[in-house]
Amino acid sequence: MAKIIDGKQISMDVKMQVKAEVEALKKQGVSVCLAVVIVGNDPASRVYVNNKKKACELVCIESREYALPEETTEEELLALVRKLNEDSTVNGILVQLPVPKQIDDHKIIAAIDPRKDVDAFTEGCVGKIMIGEYDFLPCTPAGCMDLIHSTGVPVSGKQAVVIGRSNIVGKPMAMLLLHESATVTICHSRTQNLKEICRGADILVAAVGKAKMVTADMVKPGAVVIDVGMNRDENGKLCGDVDFDAVQEVAGYLTPVPGGVGPMTIATLMRNTVTAAKVQNGLENSK
Ligand code: GUN
Repeated sequence: MAKIIDGKQISMDVKMQVKAEVEALKKQGVSVCLAVVIVGNDPASRVYVNNKKKACELVCIESREYALPEETTEEELLALVRKLNEDSTVNGILVQLPVPKQIDDHKIIAAIDPRKDVDAFTEGCVGKIMIGEYDFLPCTPAGCMDLIHSTGVPVSGKQAVVIGRSNIVGKPMAMLLLHESATVTICHSRTQNLKEICRGADILVAAVGKAKMVTADMVKPGAVVIDVGMNRDENGKLCGDVDFDAVQEVAGYLTPVPGGVGPMTIATLMRNTVTAAKVQNGLENSK
């Protein structure tokens, strides 16, 4: 029976560390501020943004919300991003994705000052992650690494399989595992023999967005299984990419949904925002 990895608890530990850092910075006269931009009425985005704001409150980071209407133009959103780039009281800028279809998200991300890019989505940040020299951790993959570390299972030399090749999760996840000397395979919708490849994984990360697609016969007994998915099952209940009940019987360690990766993503965002404030105030060397 798998041990359940408690993302809520581990994220709380990270947030308490961040809070202590924010308080220490305040004593040095440095305040920390995150600008959160949401465009339109996507209900899931609204929940995510509210959770990010709540986390800011908990760790004593100021959050400023910019909620723009669904019909916002690309030019209007670009103008806001440029204004926030110029505002020296703003340390981090987060534009919640997805944005409405009339707006090109690549253009918006490219407009964010890389020194304020606490999502680590800009080309410069992605490039730094690739070479292993970065200020800002990619939020979800870094959260997954914290969860893997919490098991005490060493990553070096292990077979790691990432299912999903998105820019936000799959690709940077593979990089972080590689930086820790795992042997990494990235699988995706065209992968042949997916089941066999997954069964070889000591560490399996599912980031596909397909409810319960990782079944028990895809998991090596004793493996560490990290579920990044956030889906609804046939009854409308929140579930991950992993068939939790069945995989629990096979895996060594498993993250739940909710209460696994989700809270860790936000904890890393808080950590990145403090790093941004430090770098911008000359308290930490930019790499
Ligand atoms: N939408 C889904 N995940 C994320 C994230 O980590 N950051 C932003 N900005 N938007 C998202």
